[in-house]
Amino acid sequence: METILIVDDEKNYLLVLEDLLLEEGYRVVTSDNGARALEILKAHELDVVITDMKMPGMDGMSLLEHIHAMHPDLPVIMMTAYGSVEKAVEAMRKGAFDYILKPFENEELKLTIRKAIDHYQLVCQNRYLTRELQDRYQFNNIIGKSAVMQRIYRLIEKVAPSKATVLITGESGTGKELIARAIHFNSPRGERPFISVNCGALPETLLESELFGHEKGAFSGAVSLRKGRFELAHQGTLFLDEISEMSPPLQVKLLRILQEMEFERVGGSQSLKVDVRVVAASNRDLRLEVAEGRFRSDLFYRLNVVHVALPPLRDRKDDIPLLVNHFLRKFANEESSCNLRIHPEAMRLLLDYHWPGNVRELENVIERAVILCNGESVEAKDLPPEVTAPRVAAATMESAGAGNASPAFFRPDDSLPIPEPAPGERLPDSGLRPRQLRALEFIKAHGFITNKHYSQLNNISERQALRELSEMVDTGVLHRTGKGRGCRYMVRMSSPTAHG
Ligand SMILES: Nc1ncnc2c1ncn2[C@@H]1O[C@H](COP(=O)(O)OP(=O)(O)OP(=O)(O)O)[C@@H](O)[C@H]1O
Ligand SMILES: [Mg+2]
Repeated sequence: METILIVDDEKNYLLVLEDLLLEEGYRVVTSDNGARALEILKAHELDVVITDMKMPGMDGMSLLEHIHAMHPDLPVIMMTAYGSVEKAVEAMRKGAFDYILKPFENEELKLTIRKAIDHYQLVCQNRYLTRELQDRYQFNNIIGKSAVMQRIYRLIEKVAPSKATVLITGESGTGKELIARAIHFNSPRGERPFISVNCGALPETLLESELFGHEKGAFSGAVSLRKGRFELAHQGTLFLDEISEMSPPLQVKLLRILQEMEFERVGGSQSLKVDVRVVAASNRDLRLEVAEGRFRSDLFYRLNVVHVALPPLRDRKDDIPLLVNHFLRKFANEESSCNLRIHPEAMRLLLDYHWPGNVRELENVIERAVILCNGESVEAKDLPPEVTAPRVAAATMESAGAGNASPAFFRPDDSLPIPEPAPGERLPDSGLRPRQLRALEFIKAHGFITNKHYSQLNNISERQALRELSEMVDTGVLHRTGKGRGCRYMVRMSSPTAHG
């Protein structure tokens, strides 16, 4: 429901206008002076303001300026008496949306308001769309022609036009968000917002107000009313990422909303109705989460109307050459873009690697290689150690004159080459994983590491990064300073495993 603020020092006018607009189905708030109007502006999410020009104290013109200082796009309609049209025109020059002359025709007023609201909604949605524009995910942005991917394209084509809830599962970096966007942009909702929420990134109470919004004063810190993602996604698509991380109470609330498309803001009693398509994603096996009692089965079935299961990259290796070329083109700069090639040896290494971080990891590997390479072709030496090391390890085992192939993986203390286990596995001697050793190297160079650094360095989710860093804290290798997401990890001085 759209909310209109009317400002006029003549109380009769306020009453008449309020009645008229309530009848039209708007929510109406009124004020008989400019200062109070600004207070209201802080407490309400408004869609349009109608203000009288001549008022004692703050007049319409200076109210307009104050409003635009806070909300540059909010449409303001000026009301003015015959004889002061110049003032109204000046207000329009200063950014007023339109003016109407008193006494006004009801129909004219209604029409002007409608236009202002439609305009405002377009501006707001446009802001989202511009952000999304470069990312207009048609299917041709999704690379892959393997049989599994083709089945996925056909599924997306079928399900996109409907309003069916879609559950996308797959390991980290397999392209879940990419698919979610493709579903949205190929649906009739494509011109409307695609709003995404990471359910794993926020604590329960914050996530609740993020999803449903809150009224002013709903909790300490809620200084003004805030629309939630469900409201922002009206007529569009809401992408609920990492859905398995949602707490049980919120799962109950979400289930109710999915069934009724109706909810209240936190601290509010008014029921809001929305039209939202929900796409959810998880890198966990949700069936297992249900079986183990961590995820509600009724919610699972409600989300799992259509299931898109993305395969890990190692299970569709025939797509690797296509993806490599796609990312080469993406990252190569203007001059080299047409002739940057990949050396067959490098391609073979890429094909051999097991890609625990899936397409995201491949993308990062190619981005790095494009920077390191000689500008003509990407060679084996431009690839990171984890991609080249399995060969070194294999060669060492065969001990058949692997020659002086540079050892790609080192223990930080003595730099002796060791065969590289999978990055998540533990090394027999230190009990640490290669990813954790890499973090120690990072700390050596930078003094500390954050959770985000760790996840980027190793191409894993921040959640997994947190697990592995916490493990190092628990075993006394690192200590933690600060709180929350920005906290830093440093080497514990007395640690037996920390070299440096
Ligand atoms: N089939 C594909 N074609 C082209 N690019 C892809 C493909 N799959 C994934 N990518 C790219 O890989 C990166 C990771 O994809 P995305 O963010 O969709 O993965 P995800 O499954 O959501 O990962 P996470 O679980 O870690 O959030 C993105 O930059 C995306 O553009
Ligand atoms: Mg994702």
